[in-house]
Parts: sequence; C-alpha cells; structure tokens
Amino acid sequence: MVKEKVEVDSLSKVDEIPIDGFDHIEFYVGNALQAAYFYNRGFGFDVTAYRGPETGDREKCSYVLKQNNVTLVLTSALSPRHPIAEHVHRHGDGVKNIAFKVRDAQKCYEAALARGAKSVSDLQIHEGEDGVFKSASVKTYGDTVHSFIERENYKGAFAPSFKPMTKTSEGIGLTYVDHVVGNVETEAMETWVDYYKKVFGFYVYQYFDAKDISTKYSALVSKVMANKSGTIKLPINEPAEGVGRSQIQEYLDYYLAPGVQHIAIGTKDIIATVAELTKRGVQFLTVPRSYYDALPERVGKIDEDIEQLAKLGILVDRESDGYLLQIFTKPVEDRPTLFFEVIQRKGAKGFGKGNFKALFEAIERAQAARGNL
Ligand code: FE2
Repeated sequence: MVKEKVEVDSLSKVDEIPIDGFDHIEFYVGNALQAAYFYNRGFGFDVTAYRGPETGDREKCSYVLKQNNVTLVLTSALSPRHPIAEHVHRHGDGVKNIAFKVRDAQKCYEAALARGAKSVSDLQIHEGEDGVFKSASVKTYGDTVHSFIERENYKGAFAPSFKPMTKTSEGIGLTYVDHVVGNVETEAMETWVDYYKKVFGFYVYQYFDAKDISTKYSALVSKVMANKSGTIKLPINEPAEGVGRSQIQEYLDYYLAPGVQHIAIGTKDIIATVAELTKRGVQFLTVPRSYYDALPERVGKIDEDIEQLAKLGILVDRESDGYLLQIFTKPVEDRPTLFFEVIQRKGAKGFGKGNFKALFEAIERAQAARGNL
C-alpha cells in the first residue's frame, strides 16, 4: 500500500482562478483530416464540428472530436508559413492548448495577467444569434497554452465559425479528462510549480521524488498541480539522473521543447473500454506476466478478474482509499512524444505510484528498441 504524500503546507494563499473543468484539448497536427479518422475509428470519438475554408476560414482546418465529457480539437494549417505549420514542423503532432472551461473568461484572463501570466491571445468576444462566446489565452510550459473558454450562453457548434457534423460514433466508454501531464527540462519543474501556484492559485496535490520513480536506467521527479475544487489536475515531470537517458529527456529531445506527455482519460469500465480499443488497433505498452503473478499479494482483493486484466495489460494500484486501474498507449505519433492513459478510479485518488516501476520498465524496453536508452 502506498501512502501518498500531500504537501499540506503548500496550499496556496492565492485566490484560485475559478475553473469548471477541462473545456477541450487542442492538437496541432500535420493532417487534421487523417488524425480525426484515427481518433474516430481508434478511440471512438464522434466528429461533432468542423471549421475550414467551407466555413470561411481560409488558413486552417479543425475537427472537433467528442466523447462524453472529453473534447479534442485537431487543427492543421493550410499553408507552410502559418504558425501552426511551423509548430508541427518543429514539434511534430502535439498538444497546443489545454483549454479551461470558465464562467467569466475576462475575469480569469485579467486575473492571470495581473499575477504574471503572459498573454497569447487577448479576449475575443463573439456575439450572434447563437449567443455569446468568449475566449482568451495565456502561456504555459514550452509552446503550450491555456485558454479560458466561456460558453455558458453559447448554443452554436463548438465555437464561432464551426459547423456541426453528422454523428458517426456512439463512443466506447471514455468519459472525462482525469489529468494532463507536462514534461519540462531538468530543474524547470519548480519554476512551473510556482507559476501554477502564483497565477492560478493551484497547490501541490502530490509529489513523487526520484526514489519513487526510478529504474536501473532512468528517473524522473513529478509534482501534481491541482485546483482546490478538484476539477483540474496537471502533473509536471522533469528528468532526473539515471544510468541511461530519462524517458522525459527522450521526450524533450524529440519534441524539442517542454510539452504535454500524456492525457489520462477516465472510464467506468476499463476492461470493456480497453478490449474495444485493442480491437480497434490502439496499441498499449505491455507488462510481463510476473506483474500479474505478484498482483494479488500487492493489491489484495479487487472486483476484476486478474486473467482478464493480464490479457489486456491493465495495471492495478492500491491506495488507502481504494484502488485504480490504468493502462498506457504507445506514443500516438512517429516521434516518441505524446501518449494516452486510460484510467478507472475505484476510490483511489493518486496516479498509480505502485505501477511506476513496472510501467517505466515497459517504457524503457520501447525506448531501447528505438536505440535511445
Ligand atoms: Fe497519468
């Protein structure tokens, strides 16, 4: 059983910027049309809205993919000099925007700027027959941004200049964004921890040191930033010294900047969801059989059949309040950068610390296969 560390005294004195939850996560990709097909067919997302030349945008194309409370936006540029094309040229496909849903975008944005956030885009206000839509964005690590999205009084398709699309998927049980993890450079983690404390009023929900997260080869340290209302969790990793190249360093070497490492999406039935993802061709990291042989002793009684978990490669971790089940995809691009986690929480509020070793060894096997360890 793992006793989670909570830095109680680090509870920020700064008023929290009120955030209702993750609004959407936007990716900049080389080919949004094909990426939409991947998330539609592979992950069961419904393509709900589109923006492009047909809707009056001559510079870029975006597809909005939705499944329950998870919204992904895939955006590509239509010309090589567009900043989106430059972003993809440098980083490959990756996450540009972790957008927050708020009630008052202007207030949030002005508060963030007053506390030292750098603006990326000023407040945009759309007022039309479809209602009022407001957004503004500030910088975070690397080229990544946070938008404040106010859509309470907006009835249009996703955002202004988008048109709705016909339903093509019922979903496969992915329900909400549990957390979004960023990788930053060695010794940069504290800077970003302070940034989230100072600008957003977040606090350190949990932290993991190199002892918690190290294998023979690579190590990392991690702090989970969260808001007090519990709607947002943003862990931040930095590489630590090991015999080999940290997996975080491998990410940084390929993304060429700090950026989003993984997006964890919740499900109410991880066995059904992962079985369906596997059937659709989504590839997961595998763990050795020995992991499951040791499982009953490590986690005690669980509702799920261990053989079924072993067949799918699902990991389990026990904490004081319950347990969680989780699994990690392989990177979803050619560069070993962004991947996804599927997670089912049964009381546990942590991040699967007991699985770190098994998981990192699996990541390192893949890293070694790429010649990067
Ligand atoms: Fe995670």
